[in-house]
Amino acid sequence: MDKFIINGGKKLSGSIEISGAKNAILPIMAATLLAKGKSILTNVPNLNDIKMMSHLLRIIGARVDYFEGTLEIDTTNCSYYEAPYEIVSKMRASVNVLGPLIARFGKAKVSLPGGCAIGTRPVDLHQKALEKLGVNINIKHGYILANCSKLKGNIINFEKSSVGATENALCAAVLAKDETNIRNAAMEPEVSGLIDFLLEMGADIQGKGTTHLKIKGVKTLQPVEMEMIPDRIEAGTFLIAGAITKSKISIEKCEPGYLQTLMGKLEETGAKFEIEDNKIKIFPAQNIIPANIETQPFPGFPTDLQAQFLALMTLADGKSFIKETIFPDRFMHVPELNRLHADIRLEKGIAEVHGVPELSGAEVMATDLRASAALVLAGLAANGQTTISRIYHIDRGYDRIEKKLQMLGAEIKRIES
Ligand code: UD1
Repeated sequence: MDKFIINGGKKLSGSIEISGAKNAILPIMAATLLAKGKSILTNVPNLNDIKMMSHLLRIIGARVDYFEGTLEIDTTNCSYYEAPYEIVSKMRASVNVLGPLIARFGKAKVSLPGGCAIGTRPVDLHQKALEKLGVNINIKHGYILANCSKLKGNIINFEKSSVGATENALCAAVLAKDETNIRNAAMEPEVSGLIDFLLEMGADIQGKGTTHLKIKGVKTLQPVEMEMIPDRIEAGTFLIAGAITKSKISIEKCEPGYLQTLMGKLEETGAKFEIEDNKIKIFPAQNIIPANIETQPFPGFPTDLQAQFLALMTLADGKSFIKETIFPDRFMHVPELNRLHADIRLEKGIAEVHGVPELSGAEVMATDLRASAALVLAGLAANGQTTISRIYHIDRGYDRIEKKLQMLGAEIKRIES
């Protein structure tokens, strides 16, 4: 297992480019199953989660080739409709093949995802939405067993906003008979990224970017070529890197529109921004003002940036409250940050963060993807050396994070095991 060694306390400078959004690409990769033929995705980062989804699509029978940011997926000969436990247990987003498999084969066998470091993550909303479209679902021996003679449009009213369930419902509805109305649909940019891809394939979807999606089923879809949207979570992580190290840095090839809530919060902490097309420059506060956050579905503050923002608040000049409403147990980074001399007290889904004048380097352990990013950020700001083990978590979702940080002047190196 690789480790990062960071010599913290250094200022960063310069500019880096943001990669394509993993959380948009994974459902789009699954959606290529909806057409027979070769789809081409560009601006695809070299991430372990993308490799895992490629592996799953190959099991299903697709030909998948990746070369320098371009992913080619040929689904012509797909014939298998199972997502096995060994894959789904490692990457929950594998559940995204459920809707496409049902639409393509009329059946699917997808393992239940099981435990997750950020807390309980049920799939009941996926199940209920697909049942509304005429799918019979049984849960047996740890698997979702689904079959359907003909998908039929209906009204799906989500009791709770869910990115993955909205994506699965969309992928089934685009090939269903008649019209489907999805209410309380997730509005995350990654859902809109999937909708753009489905529209390009020939789907009929109205309401992109809203909570009400109206889908008229079509008979067939075509494979397409499309550039993937930029990763707002990677972009946000780098903006916080500027804020926590009190450094002026720029991020390029990003979408500022996806980052309004984060930038608003960073402004509350005293940071300022210069925005030009797809570039954002941060002018950080020299004295970090505390700011409270509460995670919410888009356009609220993203849960995937909660750990990184919490890391910033450990160095604020006063007390802040971080409330996690999406995954209330998503605080595995707290004890690790406290090892770096942060002062964070946890109570029922709320972290009370007492800012300290400085963090001090220590050995810490990454527990999940975004928690690892928070530890990297804290390590960059801490005095002395921080060693982060189990960084395979970060390789799931950040493309060469240490290389990009080195380009900004950070002293971070990977120790390969
Ligand atoms: C996606 C993202 C993840 C992000 C999350 C919330 C991908 C691959 N992952 O995950 O990085 O943290 O959105 O923005 O895109 N829920 C249920 N039943 C379900 C499904 C979800 O109760 O069937 C609950 C979850 O426990 C959670 C909330 O709904 O409390 C939102 O989860 P959801 O939006 O579904 O997250 P994912 O799609 O799994």
